[in-house]
Amino acid sequence: MEDEPVRILLVASAFNSLTQRVHAELRECDHEIGVELALGEDLLRARVARFRPDLILAPMLTTAIPEDVWTTYPVFIVHPGPMGDRGPSSLDWAITEGATRWGVTVLQAVAEMDAGPIWASVNFDVAQCGKSELYRNEVSDAAVAAVLTAVRRFESGDYVPEPLDYGRHDVTGQLRPFLTQQVRRIDWARADTATVLRTLRAADSQPGVLDALFGREYFIHGGHYEDRLRGEPGAVIATRDGAICRATVDGAVWLPQLRPRRVPGGPVTFKMPAADALGSDLPAGVPEVGVSSAEAAVRDTWSELRYREEAGVGYLEFAFAGGAMDTRQCRRLLAAYRDACARPVEVLVLGPQRDFFSNGIHLNVIEAAADPAEESWRNINAMNDLVEAILTTTDTLVIAALAGNAAAGGVMLALAADHVWCRESAVLNPHYRLMGLHGSEYWTYTLPQRVGAEVAERLTTRTLPVGARAAASIGLVDKVFGGSTTQFRDQVRREAENLAAAPELENLLLAKKQRRAADEAVRPLAEYRSEELAHMHRNFFAPDEPYRRLRYEFVAGVKPLATPAYLLG
Ligand code: COA
Repeated sequence: MEDEPVRILLVASAFNSLTQRVHAELRECDHEIGVELALGEDLLRARVARFRPDLILAPMLTTAIPEDVWTTYPVFIVHPGPMGDRGPSSLDWAITEGATRWGVTVLQAVAEMDAGPIWASVNFDVAQCGKSELYRNEVSDAAVAAVLTAVRRFESGDYVPEPLDYGRHDVTGQLRPFLTQQVRRIDWARADTATVLRTLRAADSQPGVLDALFGREYFIHGGHYEDRLRGEPGAVIATRDGAICRATVDGAVWLPQLRPRRVPGGPVTFKMPAADALGSDLPAGVPEVGVSSAEAAVRDTWSELRYREEAGVGYLEFAFAGGAMDTRQCRRLLAAYRDACARPVEVLVLGPQRDFFSNGIHLNVIEAAADPAEESWRNINAMNDLVEAILTTTDTLVIAALAGNAAAGGVMLALAADHVWCRESAVLNPHYRLMGLHGSEYWTYTLPQRVGAEVAERLTTRTLPVGARAAASIGLVDKVFGGSTTQFRDQVRREAENLAAAPELENLLLAKKQRRAADEAVRPLAEYRSEELAHMHRNFFAPDEPYRRLRYEFVAGVKPLATPAYLLG
């Protein structure tokens, strides 16, 4: 049976980052992959009957698979916990309790949840970050390794999975209950900074920690250390770029995003920059305490932008929650980019240390705006100004370093750089169609130039995620480095320093200048922009366009009624 492709049906509650990654990895192994969203037992039964899988694999499932399915087909569940761990809040407990090692286990579905025989398990070191960042990085890497091992063992035909046995020394987990908001509650008068941060990280990005601010209830999403500011425990003592700083008994923490608690029967609420969510409730006396990107690089404080230089290379790091970039964030990044370009370095690396590179314009901020179409327009123009600045930089070699995933305009932002280097684990979604958009960010200039018109057409219309290795094979990215985010950063640093020290650097810059001038002569950048924006204007403003509905569904988390056609293959 080995070397024969296995027909695998991925069943998932959403086509989320891990499901996309598993999808990309298994396709690369030449298995036949189908995707079915878990939207109802009968829909699932019908799809299974049509697809006739050898194996059903659930990378991210929040509901149970019906018994008649798992008794007829082998069903593998990816559980984000070490062997023996069971329950719906695994990562939340791991972070809450300060675990330093954790794991991902692939187990077979049986009647008892998470108690089936074990096909593979991979452990990892827990990074100090929010749950969903951990999920997209260390958890995803361990999950992919465990899934590939489990599928190989399944293919071999003679592997006998290990029954769950709490008597074994390597079965370290236990059954844990759902982690409730009562347990998550923060007592600001007592909790120290470390406890507050663990609590916030365990709930980030979902479900957040329910709390009260200025007489209203909010879910807090995300939490970061502050090294200097101090105040009355629980008090909001500063703002910075839309985030608020709240004092603890022994320090202070930054809270970037809040979501108002939904009133029963009231409109849907969603995450927003904290200061926007508080609006006029935020007392006028709370000071805006900014930090420069250079200062942020040497302090332990929250900042979306950091800039540092090392061995002739500038590093402009940006990190936006959910990878979303609103108009103000685009403008701040553009200003920091211009500052970096004015520095005496000839190689500049762009990108966050870990996690999302960018997911394009900020759909939540747009949805909340008084005039969402106008705000969409402002946001896309701010993105375009940033991309244009990168495209027209001719005296610096610009490298986009993608430690994590990117989508839509976020991918096109990376393509504006001269070199695009990608961590092997990253998943790219180089398309806009799922949001009903034509797209801008000069993609009609950069994408076909990289991959050719035909592949550009396929990528933007088939709307499937592309794994990093596949992206390199079609020229979408230039280099792929394996390993953890730390190893990726080290590799990027080495290669960037080599470029900065290379004798041919001046020639590379000259060639770049000439290429840009030649391209400009064939078709000015302004023409690409105005043509793209003509489409986008229609997408944003015309009443019969789907963008408005799709954006609302995305922001409100509306589930589709059936698995979307593009996933059916
Ligand atoms: N605007 C606002 N929020 C965004 C966002 C955007 N452009 N892109 C991602 N997010 C948020 C998500 O809502 C999610 O929030 P949550 O943690 O509260 O659920 C978080 O970022 C992580 O995204 P998620 O969808 O869970 O991650 P994923 O890896 O499973 O999927 C994408 C990633 C990029 C495929 C998916 O988020 C997406 O389609 N984003 C929209 C891309 C887009 O159309 N951009 C606008 C056009 S330029």
